[in-house]
Amino acid sequence: MSLEKLDLASPDLVNENIEKIAALFPNCVTESSKGKAIDFDLLKQELSDSVVEGNKERYRLEWPGKREAIVTANLPTTKTLRPVREDSVDFDNTENLYIEGDNLEVLKLLQESYLNKIKMIYIDPPYNTGKDFIYKDNFSKDEEKELLESGQTDEYKNRLITNPDTAGRYHSDWLSMMYSRLKLARNLLTQDGAVFVSIDENENHNLRKICDEIFGERNFVAELIWQKKTGSSDAKNIATITEYVIIYSKEITSLAFNQDEDAHDNARYKYKDEYYEERGPFYYDNLDRGTLGYHESLDYGIPTPNGGLAFPNGRTKKLNDGWRWKWGKKKLEWGLNNGFIEVQESSSKDCGWGVYYKIYLNVDNEGNPKKRSSPYKNIIQGILNTHASNEAKDLFNRTGIFSNPKPTNLIYNLLKIGSNENDILLDFFSGSASSAQAVLKANSEDNFRRKYIQVQIPEPTDDKSDAFKEGYNSICEIGKERIRRAAKKIKEETKADIDYGFRVYRLDESNMQDVYYKPQEYDQGQLDAFADNVKPDRTSDDLLAQVMIDWGLPLSLKIERIDIKGKEVFKVAENSLYACFDKGIDEEFAKEIANDSPLRIVFKDSGFKNDTAKTNVKQLLKQLSPETEMKVI
Ligand SMILES: C[S@@+](CC[C@H](N)C(=O)[O-])C[C@H]1O[C@@H](n2cnc3c(N)ncnc32)[C@H](O)[C@@H]1O
Repeated sequence: MSLEKLDLASPDLVNENIEKIAALFPNCVTESSKGKAIDFDLLKQELSDSVVEGNKERYRLEWPGKREAIVTANLPTTKTLRPVREDSVDFDNTENLYIEGDNLEVLKLLQESYLNKIKMIYIDPPYNTGKDFIYKDNFSKDEEKELLESGQTDEYKNRLITNPDTAGRYHSDWLSMMYSRLKLARNLLTQDGAVFVSIDENENHNLRKICDEIFGERNFVAELIWQKKTGSSDAKNIATITEYVIIYSKEITSLAFNQDEDAHDNARYKYKDEYYEERGPFYYDNLDRGTLGYHESLDYGIPTPNGGLAFPNGRTKKLNDGWRWKWGKKKLEWGLNNGFIEVQESSSKDCGWGVYYKIYLNVDNEGNPKKRSSPYKNIIQGILNTHASNEAKDLFNRTGIFSNPKPTNLIYNLLKIGSNENDILLDFFSGSASSAQAVLKANSEDNFRRKYIQVQIPEPTDDKSDAFKEGYNSICEIGKERIRRAAKKIKEETKADIDYGFRVYRLDESNMQDVYYKPQEYDQGQLDAFADNVKPDRTSDDLLAQVMIDWGLPLSLKIERIDIKGKEVFKVAENSLYACFDKGIDEEFAKEIANDSPLRIVFKDSGFKNDTAKTNVKQLLKQLSPETEMKVI
């Protein structure tokens, strides 16, 4: 008997600690001569809001600007998201989001509300082909001032800089841009979530390296090869007709991708069994076999309907010629009793009888449910780039409205692999919104309630482009219109009862005056001059969005407006949050609100009737609705 030995060595605490740090900061793990090690310089960088110097040799991809990219990702933002009701569809009820703005800032704003909540991220970033625009993150105040003074106020236009392959920082700028965004995006993934990144040969190798750092090498899942075209006649040496979708998980041990249900050839299951319908259709296979594995016990007679016996190879008696049954006597008996075996007349067998067993689609040959699917393969074929231009034509009656869109079916296929009922898909380089259309298509087929979040910078369309001539001034205008049109089409064609709407939010400077963030920089006289710390052009809808973001509530929650004692109150997700930004908040109003016991309530600091009312409202809510957390802005 072998006994399990006591492990008398104490645990390897250093390794355990390295694993703990790796879980929080996978990018800080590197290799040393003794194995895994922590890159202390990089860890220091993660804990600092200015660039930390250090230049030891180590195994990793370096580029000028990498440290700034970490700082850029970690710095907080004071920007906000403002709802745009007029561009939205079914604003109050939809759970889909369309966010206009630079994705770096947007990802920062989503950090609390969507922390560990996104099951699937799909992105199709600029591939850095030498012709792409790269958004310049570290835009200095001086540059901003210069542009304002020269009358060039279009911030987005000026920050989107072409990145030609002749530029000195060609790869570095692209890497910095991707590094900070992927780092922020990782936080949003659920434990069983994954990111899917479209990329081609220009930056594939570099992307893999930074993803190894950001997600941890062990969380690499696959590199899908997508055949996007059938030929490339203008190629010089090799016609490149493929690109890639790189997949990394948040935590590989929790990842459970769906299986490919259509992977098997179901056509051969030709017969139906009316007594055992639940087993599904079936086909016949011979029970005898003439190859290796002869054993006397497998060479026995099976009774035939005419009272005779059938032996393997159509014999009428035992012959010891190598032929045998595939099943032993006991299993055969079970098979006969349970409808798995049929003895049929056969012209090809000497005895006139053949013995067959049935192979069902849904159960194995012991009657247990059968796994019919298998993992998806790493090749995507049959979906071509040209399909995307046909889609544009289908929706807009002409091609050329979007540049470089992905075919909806490509993303639809990825959704089938990585998402299920109620999952959220985030696409923060959403372009013409093909991933939103893919979500609608998938939902319309399986009736799931997947939701999407699209993020797209309002990149102005070229004034010579067809899109511009058709009246679309920015890519966001194209994206939103595409979703409206695709939704209409899918609704007409499928009649599916799914969420066709979307809420639009636009990135903007904070709703609050500067004094809100830096009161120490103002003296009392100046402070008094700010009767209200909210900027005058901001609406209560704007404030509500900011409160939801600050309180970490998803922006897709249902919003209702109700009237309580003549004041407008926003009721978010039943009693999750009440918000009232009207003036004259007093004790009577607080009593009324307390009846509903909201979990959170927010007022404007300047909204109370007077200072006494402010103190009393707080006390009253504490007494009457102790669960309520009250805040002011
Ligand atoms: C290759 S396209 C995506 C195409 C999209 N998958 C489709 O099917 O239409 C990349 C998009 O990312 C956008 N983009 C680039 N930098 C961005 C940034 N910093 N924030 C948000 N969007 C950005 C570009 O404007 C462009 O529309």
